[in-house]
Amino acid sequence: MDSQFNRHRRLRRTANMRNLVRETHLHVEDFIYPIFVAEGQDIKKEIPSMPGIYNLSLDHLTEEMDEVVSLGIQSVLLFGVPLEKDACGTQAYHEHGIVQEATRLIKEKYPEILVVADTCLCEYTDHGHCGLIENGEILNDASLELLVQTAISQAKAGADIIAPSNMMDGFTIAIREGLDEAGFEHIPVMSYAVKYASAFYGPFRDAAGSTPQFGDRKSYQMDPANRLEAMREAESDLMEGADFLIVKPGMPYLDIVRDVKNNINLPLVTYNVSGEYSMVKAAAQNGWIDEERIVLEMLTGMKRAGSDLIITYHAKDAAKWMNSHK
Ligand code: PBG
Repeated sequence: MDSQFNRHRRLRRTANMRNLVRETHLHVEDFIYPIFVAEGQDIKKEIPSMPGIYNLSLDHLTEEMDEVVSLGIQSVLLFGVPLEKDACGTQAYHEHGIVQEATRLIKEKYPEILVVADTCLCEYTDHGHCGLIENGEILNDASLELLVQTAISQAKAGADIIAPSNMMDGFTIAIREGLDEAGFEHIPVMSYAVKYASAFYGPFRDAAGSTPQFGDRKSYQMDPANRLEAMREAESDLMEGADFLIVKPGMPYLDIVRDVKNNINLPLVTYNVSGEYSMVKAAAQNGWIDEERIVLEMLTGMKRAGSDLIITYHAKDAAKWMNSHK
């Protein structure tokens, strides 16, 4: 046959043939599952815009962790919902802050589980910004000191990975040096290196009560229109000693994921954020989409784009579906 075209379909003919040539695979170990730990007693409050995701007090954390562990998920990312907020986010770096206490509890009961601590002030400040404020402006360098204290207190509580999400300049090197000086040179930094000022964080801010009380985050988070700037941010974090880089959000930014993956040789983490989750859930609840297929396709797309790991609220559902197909 002197055919004029290629027979691509040969490799798609049967399920096993397709399995044989599949290039991208999702693994449950790829997932980092975010959990909102709330200060107080007997709290299990579903976040209205994030069906299936809860604010949980410590007395409900064990049942959540039992499920996470039984599904084979090995990493969780902790966010705190404190009872008290103030101008300098004291509860972020308090020895008995909610994330510190949750970390101790998880590491005691599930020592093998990796606890990733989100290092930011916005859940703990009364103004809702990620740094200190003076005359309506964010104080970059003064905020770094508090972020370093936060990271050290999280490491002291047993966090396995520090994940700073605040987008102050220099946070990676400041935290790296602070951890080293405090004896935590073995604790990696998973930097939110490339974090856009995104409307997709809306539901998260409902969950964490961290909506800025004035202004927005555009002076520290990135302009969604920029691509080259993402490389500058990623290069800075590489030089400053990051061990992992996060790109955030996920789905609308997979070009950035690929750029970073092609240019920087560090494990790359994509954050499939709250708004992405909410959109899928809303459509699924309306019966408009096939949730399982949509979610697994999205997560596969993130890996194909270059993600090594994915922070996702879909982790438990995806793990259930993946385990049932084994
Ligand atoms: C804290 C932080 C935010 C998210 C992760 N860490 C909120 C923000 O920057 O406003 C968003 C995560 C999500 O939307 O799922 N700075």
